[in-house]
Amino acid sequence: MELKDKVAAVTGAGKGIGKAIAERLFREGALVSLWDIDFNLVKDLSKKLDSSGKNILSIKADVTEEDEIKSAVEQTVKSWGKIDILVNNAGISRHKTISEMSVDDFMQVIWVNLTGTFICCKYVVLEMKKHKRGKIINISSLGGRTGRPGVGVNYAASKAGVISLTQTLARELGGYGIYVNAICPGPILTEQTKQYPREVFESWNAGRAIQRDGFPEDISDAVVFLASEKSDWITGFSLDINGGIYIC
Ligand SMILES: NC(=O)c1ccc[n+]([C@@H]2O[C@H](COP(=O)([O-])OP(=O)(O)OC[C@H]3O[C@@H](n4cnc5c(N)ncnc54)[C@H](O)[C@@H]3O)[C@@H](O)[C@H]2O)c1
Repeated sequence: MELKDKVAAVTGAGKGIGKAIAERLFREGALVSLWDIDFNLVKDLSKKLDSSGKNILSIKADVTEEDEIKSAVEQTVKSWGKIDILVNNAGISRHKTISEMSVDDFMQVIWVNLTGTFICCKYVVLEMKKHKRGKIINISSLGGRTGRPGVGVNYAASKAGVISLTQTLARELGGYGIYVNAICPGPILTEQTKQYPREVFESWNAGRAIQRDGFPEDISDAVVFLASEKSDWITGFSLDINGGIYIC
């Protein structure tokens, strides 16, 4: 097991990519703190993964609420003494054209995807610094790398911001043994994206080199690598996982 006895916090862990990441970290031996705005989702996942209730915490934590994140950090540290790994996965999208998009639509997505990532980093880093070690993995998006038709300027700008935050934080925290990397997924089949008509999903994959769809497990495998000691010479990096839609 790659992550035995490491303590990991995953935001937006209740479903989709976050759920797959949390399951995988748990299977790799980590103690996992599941944070989500929807408490029932993480409660159900915790029951499914760990009937003993000792190795998983489920916490209602909205990444935009500073007090909830402070409390989630405190509860996790109280239970297990530290946080070694933070996966900033919680994110939302609101697909609209610029003329349809209100300032509220713009700010809501920026607030969850970018400010939420900042808030979680801020409070978890305080703990990581005490132990002079930590791995932060921020889930950005192909939309933040290249701009993508239809994702909305709010989403693309928020995810580009996550890449920039990752690069700057990596430089700021390297001296404390804290690594900060990002993952930029292309279109991933989740319960949510499966709700789009197949032709819409396929249009997002135009030009893909590898002829199969992307799954949450494609992302969770990379998270394990970036959370482990095997990536100890990598920081400030944004890893594109998209089957070769974007090759640079
Ligand atoms: N699915 C894709 O194709 C794809 C592609 C690129 C990037 N991403 C990114 O991956 C991440 C996960 O995407 P997904 O498709 O699994 O999403 P999803 O909508 O299936 O799941 C998101 C989870 O985040 C939670 N959440 C939403 N707002 C929150 C908040 N304010 N605080 C805490 N939790 C919150 C939700 O309750 C949900 O459990 C997002 O950051 C998304 O932008 C997804």
